[in-house]
Amino acid sequence: MSGPRIIAVDGPTASGKGTIAKALATHFGLPHLDTGLLYRAVGRQVALNGGNPDLASDAEAACAFPDALLADPELRSEATGGLASRISVHPGVRRALYERQRAFALQPGGAVLDGRDIGTVIAPEAPAKLFVTASVPARAQRRWAEMQAQGRAVTLAEIEADLAARDLRDSTRAEAPLAAAPDAVLLDTSALTREAAVTEAIRLVAQQLAP
Ligand code: DC
Repeated sequence: MSGPRIIAVDGPTASGKGTIAKALATHFGLPHLDTGLLYRAVGRQVALNGGNPDLASDAEAACAFPDALLADPELRSEATGGLASRISVHPGVRRALYERQRAFALQPGGAVLDGRDIGTVIAPEAPAKLFVTASVPARAQRRWAEMQAQGRAVTLAEIEADLAARDLRDSTRAEAPLAAAPDAVLLDTSALTREAAVTEAIRLVAQQLAP
């Protein structure tokens, strides 16, 4: 294989793609960008501005968020995830975040990026692409366990409903919907432990990067 070693990891929320992307970055010695965090920062900035996430002008204005916001623990909350999903439907927001992601992908040597449209829009030329999925019950169970560990009071049913709503919004939006690139390899983590999913992801990517 020639050219930068770009590894694209796409998939729905709580599929395990973040864990897998981090492990791939460590294994292959590459920098990693969680692109969802950029959308979360825009969602959070809209809230801080008192704006409306469904209004393109308010969402676009929030794209000028300060870099320090990326370290805000509130970005990881379910509420901010919901806002991120809502602002991500606006084409102007996607355009504003494109260059930053594209530049990260093209750095010499390569990079790992995880998100929704890395293999389709941000780096369609990536030599390695995974589409990580898991069933809604499996993803809800994991998210619920995370929330319990953080002491957040939320029911499994609430999480399932929220995941299903976000999946629907992310996969039916007009611009760059969540979809596997035709050349992505599917990895279903429903029945896999975290360790087994990581091992399988490394194996699949090594295969794709092999000359
Ligand atoms: O991966 P995440 O849960 O942090 O992403 C939050 C939201 O951001 C997700 O619901 C849709 C949006 N997003 C996107 O549209 N494109 C990306 N590459 C990453 C995230």
